[in-house]
Amino acid sequence: MARAEWGSRLGFVLAAAGSAIGLGAIWKFPYITAQNGGGAFLLIFLLLVFTLGISLMIAEMLVGSVTKKSPVGAYRKLGGRTWSLVGYIGVLCGFLILSFYSVVGGWTIAYIVKSVDGAILTADPKVLSGIFSTFIADPVEPLWYHALFMGVTAGVILAGVQKGIEQVSKYLMIMLFLLILVLIGRAITLPGAIDGVLTFLNPDFSKVNARMVIEAMGLAFFSMSLGMGCMITYGSYASDDTYVPHSAGSVITLTTLICFLSGLMVFPAVFVFGFDPSAGPGLTFITMPAVFSQMGGGQFFGVLFFFLLFVAALTSSVSLMEVVVSFFIDEFNCRRTPTTIVMSILMFVLGIAASLSLGVWNDYKFFGKNFFDILDYVSSNLIMPFGGIMVAVLVGWKSWTLVSERLASKGKHPWWLPLLKWFLRIIAPIMIFVVLLQNL
Ligand code: PHE
Repeated sequence: MARAEWGSRLGFVLAAAGSAIGLGAIWKFPYITAQNGGGAFLLIFLLLVFTLGISLMIAEMLVGSVTKKSPVGAYRKLGGRTWSLVGYIGVLCGFLILSFYSVVGGWTIAYIVKSVDGAILTADPKVLSGIFSTFIADPVEPLWYHALFMGVTAGVILAGVQKGIEQVSKYLMIMLFLLILVLIGRAITLPGAIDGVLTFLNPDFSKVNARMVIEAMGLAFFSMSLGMGCMITYGSYASDDTYVPHSAGSVITLTTLICFLSGLMVFPAVFVFGFDPSAGPGLTFITMPAVFSQMGGGQFFGVLFFFLLFVAALTSSVSLMEVVVSFFIDEFNCRRTPTTIVMSILMFVLGIAASLSLGVWNDYKFFGKNFFDILDYVSSNLIMPFGGIMVAVLVGWKSWTLVSERLASKGKHPWWLPLLKWFLRIIAPIMIFVVLLQNL
């Protein structure tokens, strides 16, 4: 059977952007930027995205589109047997991420419900923080939503590559973008909003330290879906006339834009209503309702926002599950339906532990982190950067001739080609390695 392909080049970009834009941009980016003090962190993040991020995105998409295989097969084809290990690690990474991602995806559904019944329509920081922390610490309630989110993700996967992923991605992402603009409009016109905007944009370099760089890099990998093979898988469905650097550039730019706008949306509210900027994973969930409470039709905007956040999360979770499922299909000839069901259940079970670790199991800590944070930390700050080094080395050294032919044959000879080559060969691996070392 011919390998499935995206319906159009635009379809490919939108699906890849759908994978990248998700909880990373709208949930993780604001709270991690806030925890790290704003401006300076934002700058480091942008710097990393437009050097490392863009080149690794090109590299990954190329590996996929040249080999037409999912990560394990792709690494094996280009690098040989040993290299396929990197693919396995990527699949494992997808598995780990989705198990906690689905928990947070579940929160978005819960918050749709809480917006409908109006419970969260207040500007009182204490009440909003209280509602959030009581909810995530509950041993039962979040698990239902987690199950629902995982179930919907599996449902999309079962509908197949094109119909499932591509259709869902298109229109709702545009709506999300427009809604964020509306919400920024409200947020920055609240009295006192300027403090938030300044904290977000004004870099205070005295705050820069090694930990910040680690966090910024992990965030870049996570929010751009890099280093674990997701973009290899998506690239493998790209048709041959897709010019990968353009697609990669669009995806990176769109995702960065959403990160940036999410910051502009969340930061003012933090300062206007007096939330704690280091509130952590709850930040978007506790601050946005305060903004809705100050809007005509706040309930409507609340429901719409959390619904679109849910959809953004879904297009990302689908891409994570696709990495895991297509691995079993391509490597072991498994059938799509049973594989999807079994994997979903396994990830759901691991996610239960992640969810409980925010409440009743919060006392079990390793290296001072609960299980939820461990899953997040290990995948974003260790495995994905490791995968980044590997894909840079593979494309830069081992397969450069093959891959660069692709880049040159479409246009004449892009001026940045040598730049990309040496960046992937030397600079990217060293950069990532140095940051990884800080980690250990
Ligand atoms: N980039 C996605 C997000 O920000 C998460 C993700 C990571 C998706 C890795 C696929 C692969 O929500």
